Amino acid sequence: MKELSYVEIREKYLQFFAANNHTIIPSASLVPENDPSTLFVNSGMFPLIPFLLGEKHPAGKRLVNSQRCVRTIDIEEVGDESHCTTFEMLGNWSLNDYFKKEAINLTISFFVDDLGIDIERIHATVFEGDKDAPRDDESIKIWQELFEKRGIKAEVGKGKRIQTYGKKDNWWELSGGGPCGPCTEIFYDTGKKSCSTHCHISCNCGKYLEIGNNVLMEYFKEGNSYKPLGRHNVDFGGGLDRLAIILQNKNSVFETDIYSPILEKVQELSKKDEIRSQRIIVDHIKAASWIIMDGITPGRTEREYILRRLIRRAVRHGKILGIEKNFTKEIALVAIEKFSQVWNELEEKKEKILEILETEEEKFNKTLKEGLKEVKKIAQNTKHKFKNENGVSFKIYETYGFPPEMFLEELQTEKIEVDKDSFWKNHNHAFQEHQEKSRSASKGFFKGGLADTSDKSIKLHTATHLLLKALKDVLGSEVYQKGSNITPDRLRFDFPSEQKLTPEQIKEVERIVNDAIDKGLDIKFEEKNRDEAMKIVPEASFEERYDEIIKVYYIGNKENPYSAEICNGPHVKNTKELGKFKIIKQENVGAGIKRIKAILE
Ligand code: ALA
Repeated sequence: MKELSYVEIREKYLQFFAANNHTIIPSASLVPENDPSTLFVNSGMFPLIPFLLGEKHPAGKRLVNSQRCVRTIDIEEVGDESHCTTFEMLGNWSLNDYFKKEAINLTISFFVDDLGIDIERIHATVFEGDKDAPRDDESIKIWQELFEKRGIKAEVGKGKRIQTYGKKDNWWELSGGGPCGPCTEIFYDTGKKSCSTHCHISCNCGKYLEIGNNVLMEYFKEGNSYKPLGRHNVDFGGGLDRLAIILQNKNSVFETDIYSPILEKVQELSKKDEIRSQRIIVDHIKAASWIIMDGITPGRTEREYILRRLIRRAVRHGKILGIEKNFTKEIALVAIEKFSQVWNELEEKKEKILEILETEEEKFNKTLKEGLKEVKKIAQNTKHKFKNENGVSFKIYETYGFPPEMFLEELQTEKIEVDKDSFWKNHNHAFQEHQEKSRSASKGFFKGGLADTSDKSIKLHTATHLLLKALKDVLGSEVYQKGSNITPDRLRFDFPSEQKLTPEQIKEVERIVNDAIDKGLDIKFEEKNRDEAMKIVPEASFEERYDEIIKVYYIGNKENPYSAEICNGPHVKNTKELGKFKIIKQENVGAGIKRIKAILE
């Protein structure tokens, strides 16, 4: 096994699959375009959901990429050997093309033949079957043949090379449902001692490292039921960081070349040798620079808040390490240099990233000391379990910008016992009260904005295109989509306008949309390159996901369309399917933006 740098592993993966007829597609932005249920893209398959559901992908049926991802669920664990907020997921997909046999064989051929990982160290897990889907005997057979060809007799069962597990370990789905299925995971035996006689492949003691997962997508989850998807997709995901650990023979991801230059910089600035705080800074500043690169700035809600929290937490840990001066910029510079060979935009947006970090660091520094003093006072006055009565953590956040998670951490450092449920309940309650009072509604959030791909959401998505067209007719062609969010119950559409629509204008918009529905207009799309698409939709200025091929959705006759928009779908086939369109609410969301909520009856 040859030692390879992170960039080399990444490139080898892309080229291996390209040589096996996969098209290399770019990583999508961290900010999901079509799903308000998730703040950041957290897996390679996420941006591909419409295509896993059956939309034709412009780049074909076999795709490969390395997708930048953010997972903040384990933010409190960051600082140990393995948890990180950002990572790259290697992904290859078959969109109703190859299935189990080719998928498993391709994965192993890449790991073993291309990277040189010893087959002896490879173990596999397979779905054991339950009421929703049968045991995956086909994959077991494929694994056994594959091992046998390579001189290994692979048995199935406890303590064996192939082990079966239930949904918890060997089934993959997104929390909101959608395309899903059993998966078969690939594990690497690190050679460490087993933790006990009960140790098994999926055990998380560290002996076995999961290095890849083939999701065999034949199902669709809606509510609690699983239906056939009507297609067979493969969704492979593998952590690039884990492969770097193995191929560079390291114990922790922070020792690999992905993180080590950044860690060295942090250590150079640190007055104390606290590895946890050092790792937190490395992770958080790397994450912050990627998130800013994708267009987010620190703020009070949602993604903006996560970014703020990452930066502020890094600053706090800088203090723990005795770093007195502003330092986030210096660390970010190393991170930017490290990753700009992969993400060119980092270099392009370098100045902006550094400026945002510096401003946020300064802002927080001003109040950090005061905030800490207050939290310490609260800690001293806490005689029993801390319950955050009256949402005091929110008040501290309001006054000092002290994130509640950090409040919690400080209390724990002071050895105060916290009732976490009450803590968050009271915090959120105070936050909501404040939101309602100030009515500082957040600005439009999503570009495409489908919460899911249920029939109802798809209908509302088509209705959104009709609404935009009607608004242009009534208010002028300069109206554009500032934000959109669609759930099965309603659409929400934000557009720039100083004045609210008058009741007459609302009626007129409804009439125009309903007329278009009654006309029974067909919806079709065409794939265009960027220049052609811009000619058809000249006002389009948003960043597209694909460099070359873009979809243009037409409502009505393609030659002289009623509406034409650059969009990734999905849409209904004919406007007749929509029913009756009705505006139920209009709001002023500030900064010259108006919001409409509408339904289909
Ligand atoms: N989507 C699958 C995962 O995240 C591959 O593990």
